[in-house]
Amino acid sequence: MFEHLKIWMNGKIVPWNNAAVHIMSHGFSRASAMFDVFGIHPGPKGPVAFRMDKHLDRLFRSAELLGMEMAYTKEEIVDAVREIVRLNNINRGLIKILAYYGEEAVISLVLDSKLDLAVCGIPEMDDLGLDQTKPIDICFAKWRKIHPATVPVEAKACSNYLNGMLVRKDAMSKGYDVGISLTTDGYVAEGSIESVFMVKDGILKTPPRGNILQSVTRMSILEAAPAIGIETLEKQIMPQELMAADEIFVCHTGIKVLPVKRIEDRILDQVPGPVSSRISALMDNICNSRDDRFKDWLQTVG
Ligand SMILES: Cc1ncc(COP(=O)(O)O)c(C=O)c1O
Repeated sequence: MFEHLKIWMNGKIVPWNNAAVHIMSHGFSRASAMFDVFGIHPGPKGPVAFRMDKHLDRLFRSAELLGMEMAYTKEEIVDAVREIVRLNNINRGLIKILAYYGEEAVISLVLDSKLDLAVCGIPEMDDLGLDQTKPIDICFAKWRKIHPATVPVEAKACSNYLNGMLVRKDAMSKGYDVGISLTTDGYVAEGSIESVFMVKDGILKTPPRGNILQSVTRMSILEAAPAIGIETLEKQIMPQELMAADEIFVCHTGIKVLPVKRIEDRILDQVPGPVSSRISALMDNICNSRDDRFKDWLQTVG
């Protein structure tokens, strides 16, 4: 399905099937890898990336939080993104950037090398489920969110996704689409790859920073919602508060706003609700270059 695609690896363009690292690489065998993902949308003068600067900031921040050093500058990475968008003919899709220790490490745990880098670009296809809007069922997962005192949860470290995978598996085994993990203190954290929002009495609420990934979509919704008169609040949310929400949605780069129709055994009344619908339309307009107030959020990459 992906064989025809090219990947940028440490400055070289390689075919999809040859984009490999050694089984004993530190990145694979010690999980010293991190990544970031952002969306490409059709723009008036060619494909545009949604808030690429913020995603690259987060990638560099992930490396910093993990005490690792990037080998390429942001400008070099932007050039690599442009090359991959062109080579893979992406008008709409996703860019995934991986930074990892590619060198073999049989015994060594701590390396002082710089991180290898791969830039992958995937054009829109059914499997990506981009901008999926079919409402979903969510539940609270039996697995808690990793405590930030154990590993930095604000780093988009590949190893953190073992926790995310368990959360999703647990939800799916109980017949739900997405699991929401709680912090070890019992507050609502996030989904496996999704941030969570709730609406109560017209106010849009989401858990604060500290225990969750710094989602660029979450940040963008919080920044943009006031422009359409929606009040926002970052606050600790108890599970019972989420259960009693008027509206709930989850979001991430690929889907932007995905309404929830059922939480545990409660079916929500109106799905999508009025606030979720307005946020969804706002984000859709922004990503598709129809809202000039946020045009700086899109960078031409084609
Ligand atoms: C744990 C987690 N939370 C939230 C998000 C949403 O982040 P973003 O909006 O940057 O895609 C992601 C995205 O992959 C994630 O993995």
